[in-house]
Amino acid sequence: MLQDRDRIYTNLYGLHDPGLKGALARGVYDGVKGFIAKGREWIIEEVKESGLRGRGGAGFPTGLKWSFMPQEVGDRPHYLIVNADESEPGTCKDREILRHDPHRLIEGMILASCAVQAHTAYIYFRGEFMVERHAFEKAVQEAYDARILGKNSIFGWDLDIVVHHGAGAYICGEETALIESIEGKKGQPRLKPPFPANAGLYGCPSTVNNVESIADVGEILRRGGSWFAGIGKPNNTGTKLFCISGHVERPCVVEEAMGITFRELIDTHCGGITGGWDNLLAVIPGGSSVRLVPAEQIIDCPLTFDDLMKLGSGLGTAGMIVMDKSTDIIRAISRLIYFYKHESCGQCTPCREGTGWMWRVLERMAEGRAEKREIDLLFEVSKEIEGHTICALGDAAAWPVQGLINHFRDEIERRIDSYTARADAEGSTVREMERAASG
Ligand SMILES: Cc1cc2nc3c(=O)[nH]c(=O)nc-3n(C[C@H](O)[C@H](O)[C@H](O)COP(=O)(O)O)c2cc1C
Ligand code: SF4
Repeated sequence: MLQDRDRIYTNLYGLHDPGLKGALARGVYDGVKGFIAKGREWIIEEVKESGLRGRGGAGFPTGLKWSFMPQEVGDRPHYLIVNADESEPGTCKDREILRHDPHRLIEGMILASCAVQAHTAYIYFRGEFMVERHAFEKAVQEAYDARILGKNSIFGWDLDIVVHHGAGAYICGEETALIESIEGKKGQPRLKPPFPANAGLYGCPSTVNNVESIADVGEILRRGGSWFAGIGKPNNTGTKLFCISGHVERPCVVEEAMGITFRELIDTHCGGITGGWDNLLAVIPGGSSVRLVPAEQIIDCPLTFDDLMKLGSGLGTAGMIVMDKSTDIIRAISRLIYFYKHESCGQCTPCREGTGWMWRVLERMAEGRAEKREIDLLFEVSKEIEGHTICALGDAAAWPVQGLINHFRDEIERRIDSYTARADAEGSTVREMERAASG
């Protein structure tokens, strides 16, 4: 369990002043001038040593990503882009940083911009994040007034922040769709390569990072990469914001050590599962875009990228969607697939057509109005979507279906049997009535 002294987000719940004065009192901006004086290589090495893996879902090492940017700034400017789209179902952590600790993010943006040699940083807000954008803009203004941002920065790294507000499309959280959207185009993912580090925003070298990844950086540099690396498990280090929703007594967002077990997380912070541990059915642990894990497998699982991958799932955004035995698991997954169908940008045939097809089959399966051979067909179609699309939304739609079939095939079959038995019974009643009527 995380010790209070190791917490990065000391104003996660907005109990203290989110403004500059409050941030300074919490130690934000301490030492930034010195870190910038040590140079970009030092910052990148320290973040590499911390083992920080991206908090936006994929878990890509942050320091390594920064090192992919060109060593020298040529005739194209470099950009940092902060992804504040946060549209993954079950995920609600970045908004707490944006609302309650915006200066911690600005601090991280300055340090990350120095690391990738950017003097302009963009931040892309989810369409619905009005309160968050206003809170962040207020902090940006305070930072300009204090010459933390802008020309002749007191820290020695000049940075301008450009705020961009999206229109509410999930796909704009995908980094290249986000870049297209900032450029004023339709939010549709680009084929990679080229990767943003070579040709990103306006064709210039760009690095896209999640809000939490960037907001972690200041504290990592202050306490040292080795401090962060000492929390959690090897290759899965540091503290992490977990968002727990669904059938727990007290849903919450909480900062914890990577590697905490699911049981400890829920018992310590959420008051347990509704109806007790025996009532737990399954958990989708990474936001909706990963395979579900049945109760018996997740209860004592350490929550890390690697441990959840071993269970065929993933940590993703650490948005834990908890489902107890009152859940209609087929309908729940069907509802998620409807979401992906709705959010598909339509560029790739497997995703555009496959998400809608899978949703229609699942809707029938939820009623039991399907044939058992369709279960394998559904699995095969999900495999045809996975890995065959431009962006990972296709995988994100395929995995929940695969998780359902892997772990709840019995339930799908039981429903088909019971629907068939009902239909047979109704059919024979109708036949008897017809016979009786005909005399
Ligand atoms: C469909 C889709 C939606 C995504 N939405 C988000 C999002 O809302 N926020 C986010 O940080 N990353 C999101 N990502 C991941 C980004 O593409 C990118 O990997 C991430 O912002 C990189 O940041 P990180 O390395 O700090 O994790 C999404 C990816 C996909 C495929
Ligand atoms: S996988 Fe889906 S969302 Fe992603 S580019 Fe293709 S059609 Fe668009």
